[in-house]
Amino acid sequence: MKILQKIMYTHVFTIVMAIWFVPMIYGHGADEPVIDLVSDAPTDDVAESPGTDGIDSTWSDAHATFYGDIHGGGTQQGACGYGDLFRQGYGLATAALSTALFNNGYTCGACYQIMCVNDPQWCLPGSIKITATNFCPPNYTKTQDVWCNPPQKHFDLSQPMFLKIAQYKAGVVPVKYRRVPCAKTGGVKFETKGNPYFLMVLPYNVGGAGDIKAMQVKGSRTGWITMIKNWGQNWTTNVVLTGQGLSFRVTTSDGVTKDFMNVAPHNWGFGQTFNGGINF
Ligand SMILES: *[C@@H]1O[C@H](CO)[C@@H](O)[C@H](O)[C@H]1NC(C)=O
Ligand SMILES: *[C@@H]1O[C@H](CO)[C@@H](O)[C@H](O)[C@H]1NC(C)=O
Repeated sequence: MKILQKIMYTHVFTIVMAIWFVPMIYGHGADEPVIDLVSDAPTDDVAESPGTDGIDSTWSDAHATFYGDIHGGGTQQGACGYGDLFRQGYGLATAALSTALFNNGYTCGACYQIMCVNDPQWCLPGSIKITATNFCPPNYTKTQDVWCNPPQKHFDLSQPMFLKIAQYKAGVVPVKYRRVPCAKTGGVKFETKGNPYFLMVLPYNVGGAGDIKAMQVKGSRTGWITMIKNWGQNWTTNVVLTGQGLSFRVTTSDGVTKDFMNVAPHNWGFGQTFNGGINF
């Protein structure tokens, strides 16, 4: 009986998927915008499923404000160490996290679903999905609107993302949020920075849990070397690895470890980006 039910569900699911998928393929016609910065790709940057193993995807309460302008000005760079968020695939679907959520940069790269709640005057229906790319610093000299001070959970959204869940005039709204898996396109990217005596690597475009809890590097003539997390998502080592091909071993916060073998050739340089090929 159970098996029969399962088979029937599978059939129904396949049919539903086909109905949804076919127009998706053939619907992409000439009217598709080439570049649309506001409703830009990272909105569906995150998978629809409610969670992966190891990510706590229960809804919690927080508040949200916005920073930058309507075009996302002021949202580039940031405390996670990411650079050009458009080039790196994060786009405008990003947020700065308060101390309580930022976790010293360990949550950089994590993806969240956020919706405005309990404020019928200002909330808009629906939800957004964002990647944590920045830190909202506390301000202890302030006595009002101290949203980013501990222990408050707060998302300082890019303005275009805020306007998808609330009206501009609201300024600040109560929200519910939860972790969701990050679905990124293409492989994890590794940017090499620093100098011969201080290798700093910024991994980005990380799928799955999205945030990294441990990282190792291997030269073609060394074993695995544990890297130290700098501020944000810059991972460093003092071991001199110039002239050697580089491999990386990355562990995301949900405990999944992947090896990215021979990502950089022996003649790699500082300030270059290498494609890990695979993703979480
Ligand atoms: C990460 O490294 C880059 C390049 O050295 C640097 O500009 C940036 O400030 C660093 N980010 C953080 C948050 O330390
Ligand atoms: C902190 O808040 C005070 C009071 O509102 C303000 O004058 C100051 O510029 C703020 N500091 C920062 C770093 O934003």
